[in-house]
Amino acid sequence: MRYLRHARTYDHPVASEITPRAVYAARRDWLRWMATGAAGATLAAWANRQAWAQTRAPGRLAALPGAASKVAGAVTMEKLTAYDDVTSYNNFYEFGTDKADPARRAGRLKTRPWTVVVEGEVRKPGTYDIETLLKLAPMEERIYRLRCVEGWSMVIPWVGYSLNELIRRVEPTGNAKYVAFHTLADKTQMPGLNSRVLLWPYVEGLRLDEAMHPLTLLAFGLYGEVLPNQNGAPLRLVVPWKYGFKSGKSLVKIRFTEKQPQTAWNVAAPHEYGFYANVNPTVDHPRWSQATERRIGEDGLFTRKRPTLMFNGYEAQVGQLYAGMDLKKYY
Ligand code: MTE
Repeated sequence: MRYLRHARTYDHPVASEITPRAVYAARRDWLRWMATGAAGATLAAWANRQAWAQTRAPGRLAALPGAASKVAGAVTMEKLTAYDDVTSYNNFYEFGTDKADPARRAGRLKTRPWTVVVEGEVRKPGTYDIETLLKLAPMEERIYRLRCVEGWSMVIPWVGYSLNELIRRVEPTGNAKYVAFHTLADKTQMPGLNSRVLLWPYVEGLRLDEAMHPLTLLAFGLYGEVLPNQNGAPLRLVVPWKYGFKSGKSLVKIRFTEKQPQTAWNVAAPHEYGFYANVNPTVDHPRWSQATERRIGEDGLFTRKRPTLMFNGYEAQVGQLYAGMDLKKYY
């Protein structure tokens, strides 16, 4: 995003540092040195990461299993992004703007007690306790691609249920056209709030029909366990066909409105981040192309970037929501 550096926090050797195969074969002594020396260790670490050594959750958090989802599009056969990458390379500006900040600092976040206020244009407004929300509907596993506007992507097995399960229960009025999602802004717990990089709280929004779409997920977990704090504990939104910034973490309020809500990134840089923010390889960010993406964990030396798919690959499911709309104008 605007204020971020694009370098990953992980380092791995660049192509120019790797010795060609022929040289390996010809110089065995040198190779032996490589295997025991610092350069060898770096190579070994890199090879390990490529081998997907750590795809699973380590079992430190409470289990939260979900039944395999039957929602069309909720499962992709693509290789999962390793748990370590999903939980250590994050955007959660309330804890800092560096990719490593959330994992380093969000441990302090208190996720109990936790409530979510539902208000605005609904017949049944109220305050929902997290324990109630956890039991509101059966948990499903949804394997979604997540595409960040910065140009990287992951494949994550989320656990949760369709947001429409909650929306139906609160009965939106005829005036409800949009839904705003407010996330926690607590200075005592979130050191990033001292920065003026965004207007706090972080607010995102959807049109009501987008929020009602079965793919829109209220997520409570990933990899069969409750959400790690850095990924938005105890509950967050996941809207798989939109850039990741639409998926607010650590939700505290859901407000139904008649007018399109003001959203944090749109207010910060309106020409760069639109309200819709549908993943679209044909509409570039003003400062970079959106045609391709770097899949986290696949960023090896010779790995080519992947082509970005229209609506992040969910066009069959959600394309109809935007029939007749100029997606260059409503970016
Ligand atoms: N939610 C809050 N509250 N604060 C944030 O900074 N960053 C967004 C989104 N939700 C963000 C947020 C962005 S830019 C992305 S790409 C995703 O969270 C990243 O989710 P992940 O860290 O679980 O991959």
